[in-house]
Amino acid sequence: MKTDLRGRDFISVLDFNREELETILDVAKWLKMRNAVGEPQAEILKGKVLGLLFASPSTRTRLSFQTGIVQLGGSAQVYNPEELQLSHKESWKDTAEMISRFLDGFAIRLYDLKTQMGAETYEYGDARNVVRGIAEYANIPVINMLDDKEHPCQIMGDILTMMEKFGGLEHARNKKIVMSWAYDERAKSAGVPQTMIAAGSTLGLNITLAYPDEPGLYDLDSEYVDFARKAATESGGSLSIEHDIWKASKDADVIYAKSWARNPDKHAEVGKKYKDDWCISHEHFKVASKNAVYMHCLPARRNFEVTDLLIDDPKISIVNDEAENRLHVQKAIMSLIMR
Ligand code: CP
Repeated sequence: MKTDLRGRDFISVLDFNREELETILDVAKWLKMRNAVGEPQAEILKGKVLGLLFASPSTRTRLSFQTGIVQLGGSAQVYNPEELQLSHKESWKDTAEMISRFLDGFAIRLYDLKTQMGAETYEYGDARNVVRGIAEYANIPVINMLDDKEHPCQIMGDILTMMEKFGGLEHARNKKIVMSWAYDERAKSAGVPQTMIAAGSTLGLNITLAYPDEPGLYDLDSEYVDFARKAATESGGSLSIEHDIWKASKDADVIYAKSWARNPDKHAEVGKKYKDDWCISHEHFKVASKNAVYMHCLPARRNFEVTDLLIDDPKISIVNDEAENRLHVQKAIMSLIMR
């Protein structure tokens, strides 16, 4: 266990080694057990203030962070960019200087500077550069609530959920985890699969990444694929890539499917032809392992990414447990870095 994470930012799982990620999961489990028996935790971050900046909508992230900081004894301030002088072109640097004077932690969701912030141009990685820039100028911990490269809080909650379903991390390491593409009209961020292959490989999980073979469209950022391959070699996990969802589903213990695309125009042109095969249903679970589970970070596009029947099947779908675990894992992250 690594207990000296105080003052660290939680921006990318690439910044954390296996022991540090395991510490977050252990603390999350401990906090969840304390919640279960009604034990107060309000001394942990008593009086601390967390700022939450959302440049795009959120249900789970917003609710879980606001609830989490209050359960730990602190309070939350929630804003969107229009409510701050960012909307009058105050620089991120000056904003970062200010948040350091008033807050104890700052969490940000930002992934498309053009549509969300009115920037003239946007390229993949620009949002990450802003988040890193804020962290550089702010002397308080910065938490990534989804940028254009990763969704690290989501994936830590997802891995906690797999640990619970399979009886701990050691047992989860013996499972076949399929991280699959699914179709939606909207070209969504690849933050979830990129974080999953990176964190999962660091922790020794066996991941099959599945997506249609459309070069340059659904491939993940090579930085994450290369990192995951190297991390898997060191951890004893594995990363394989499959372009047929039926082959990928065979003997799967987890099918986690969500939409992503790197090029919205090309996705609009070709994505739809994969809709039926890649919309996860009970048919995929007929070839999966007997007790396999379905996961999705939510919000799910029903009957595009997953059938109604499957996502509502309480024997297979664990999507709401995943959502709840956002609370516990984010409390762990805040407790460790903001204390
Ligand atoms: N999974 C997730 O981040 O949900 P929200 O967009 O509702 O916060």
